[in-house]
Amino acid sequence: MEFSTQSTSAFHQVKTTALAVGVFADGELSAAADVVNRAAGGALKSVIGHDFLGHVGETLVLHNVAGVRAERIVLVGLGKQASYGIKAFQKAQNAFAKQCVALRLTQATSALATVPCPDSNARLLARLSAQAASNAAYYYDATMGKPDPKLRPKLKKFDLLANRADLKLVQTGLTEGAALGEGMALTRTLGNLPGNICTPTYLGNQAKALGRQFKSIKVSVLEKKQIEALGMGSFLSVAKGSNEPPRFIVMHYKGKAAPKAKSKGPIVLVGKGITFDTGGISIKPAATMDEMKFDMCGAASVFGTMLAIAKLQWPGELVGLIPTCENMPSGTATKPGDVVKSMSGQTIEVLNTDAEGRLILCDALTYAERYKPSTVIDIATLTGACIVALGTVNSGLFSPDDELAEQLLAAGKRALDPAWRLPVEDEYQDFLKSNFADMANIGNAGPKAGAVTAACFLARFAKAYRWAHLDIAGTSWLSGAQKGASGRPVPLLLEYLLEQTGK
Ligand code: BES
Ligand code: MN
Ligand code: ZN
Repeated sequence: MEFSTQSTSAFHQVKTTALAVGVFADGELSAAADVVNRAAGGALKSVIGHDFLGHVGETLVLHNVAGVRAERIVLVGLGKQASYGIKAFQKAQNAFAKQCVALRLTQATSALATVPCPDSNARLLARLSAQAASNAAYYYDATMGKPDPKLRPKLKKFDLLANRADLKLVQTGLTEGAALGEGMALTRTLGNLPGNICTPTYLGNQAKALGRQFKSIKVSVLEKKQIEALGMGSFLSVAKGSNEPPRFIVMHYKGKAAPKAKSKGPIVLVGKGITFDTGGISIKPAATMDEMKFDMCGAASVFGTMLAIAKLQWPGELVGLIPTCENMPSGTATKPGDVVKSMSGQTIEVLNTDAEGRLILCDALTYAERYKPSTVIDIATLTGACIVALGTVNSGLFSPDDELAEQLLAAGKRALDPAWRLPVEDEYQDFLKSNFADMANIGNAGPKAGAVTAACFLARFAKAYRWAHLDIAGTSWLSGAQKGASGRPVPLLLEYLLEQTGK
């Protein structure tokens, strides 16, 4: 998608197929709506209060409005003026973008970012706008028998009107939002692809393709023999029930840093890449098992973030590590009670083969030590318990480091991709006691604090560096009629990375 910005106060003279103007719930017009309304002889005011109430995200399309050059004026509700802020802005911009896609438009213009927004800035508003257009135009038909090109969204060009003083920041935000949109689309497509296509081998090939696309990303894809040589016995214990061979993917991005900037060691992202999670011998119930094709959404978010920062030529160093395999039951699968040896040397009693995410992540966390990283963040669809705790609104954030936790929470807030902090404290470590190994892979207190004990398990492998864990089980995909990958937490991760290099 192509994005552009310009500044004008003559909103009625903007030539476009659809122009979005904001209207508050109390009938108050935004400056742009006011200009258009006057030019149109009160045409907007005449529908407000009955046809259109101005609820957040409400839209009303007016065709051929006399006195304005736009082919359509789209009234977009901003909600109550007193509570207007970045969240209402995002809902409004998303609704407009969806409306444009529904109208099959190829081009659209929004004046919504000219409305003063007390709790954000022009750059973030522009980024959210590009994200809104890009996400609305996302369409999955990769596995339809006869993909119908006519069903594909046509929106190709999105223009964002801005206040004159903001133009530079808006341009930056649009560039970031365009890269973010592409990153999220990749994350969503990898998530949406079924397990019989999106295998560990497929993900490895995707990584190689990304390496070919960007000179700044060096990729290596380790195969089973090399993974064995590294001593990743925990990772391999999950892979061994499947006929699909595992992969360990390394993507190393190096941007051109400012000449005097001293490297503190790279930031490492570790993504859980279970391409299908049956539960293994501790098999899952059938009802929603299909959704376990999304169990590689952590890995997919590493891909999406890599793509976005490479597009933006981010001036830092980022390593993406992805352990990827299937979790299957079979004659060769790991059994409950089996003891496996991790790359760190610590042994693990596998009491439940469905707690497999931590078993592949722990070896990747040990592998991360070789980079002497400044920070390691793992991203994983790790526990159903995290969905019980936080639902689908917040990702779970765990870190023993208060500063890192605060930075990630703040990034999530700014990017409207929020996380909520849960504890990782030594008091919970006792739950992982085993009589037969250094630790068990599940807590012995049943389902109590399941997301926390999972994080505590990982903490045992992340002692050599600053570390945080994001549990995205509830946020990385939607269920029901809207079933599909969301692209989260790429917005949070990108905002965190941009902040680290002073943007
Ligand atoms: N991939 C699942 C977590 C999950 C479940 C994410 C449902 C989203 C929706 C993970 O591998 C898993 O099965 N975790 C178990 C852990 C338990 C056995 C301690 C869980 O959450 O039930
Ligand atoms: Mn599982
Ligand atoms: Zn899983």
